Amino acid sequence: MKLVKKYWSVFFLVITLSLFLAACGSSTGSGSSGDKLVVATDATYAPMEYMDDSGNIVGIDIDIVDAIAEAAGIEVEYKNYGWEPLFAAVENGEVDFAVSSITITDDRKESFDFTDPYFVANQVILVPANSDVESFEELKGKKVAVQINTTGHEVVKGLLGKTSSDIVAPKTMPLAITEMLNGNADAAVGDNSVVLEYVKNNPDVELEIIEDDSFEKEYYGLMVKKGNSEIVDRLNEGIQKIKEDGTLKELTGMDIE
Ligand code: ARG
Repeated sequence: MKLVKKYWSVFFLVITLSLFLAACGSSTGSGSSGDKLVVATDATYAPMEYMDDSGNIVGIDIDIVDAIAEAAGIEVEYKNYGWEPLFAAVENGEVDFAVSSITITDDRKESFDFTDPYFVANQVILVPANSDVESFEELKGKKVAVQINTTGHEVVKGLLGKTSSDIVAPKTMPLAITEMLNGNADAAVGDNSVVLEYVKNNPDVELEIIEDDSFEKEYYGLMVKKGNSEIVDRLNEGIQKIKEDGTLKELTGMDIE
């Protein structure tokens, strides 16, 4: 009798355990199945999105999306796609959305949907400290490095011409800055927070940041496949909550209406 009782309790333990494991398994489903959304990023953009020493995707954008997800009751998982591939990944539905300091532009709005803005930025010019350049206008006739297909690339095309061979446009912002340091470009143009962070992290390199009034304010949004209003609405709900409760201001140091 005692022995039978023991078998029963082992039996129940095994059943409970397998039910528990099955439940865990189903909640880690990928992509748009289940409640975990897959998020593409280009983790070469410190302090916004980058890899820490242990290979984790971290940064201000990541903290913001974590907070949005928590507020909206969503689970998220980040994947490092790189800048240009992330647009394709959103478009073909391989991921649910992208966070990557992506400026909301009319051009992009033709192919993608965006959430409400969560961050304000602008372009700045980075030059070697001994440069004679003092404004954006003065980059005419110079070589300028930008990250390909960014808003920085667009403004520089506006100044130098769409197909100008004076534009050096590698795949990442750190590579664009390297082109300048190697003397392949006279200046680099990119988002302020990222250029500032580079200068801060490289005190031995003599650099200068130039602000120019002609650069317009840019608003970052989360980028979603065109027509996927369900995800946009849920993310906006989270953004609204973290705007109202002060979390977004805490994370960014800025007021965004
Ligand atoms: N804000 C700029 C744009 O949208 C640059 C963003 C680049 N982001 C990145 N993670 N590389 O074009």
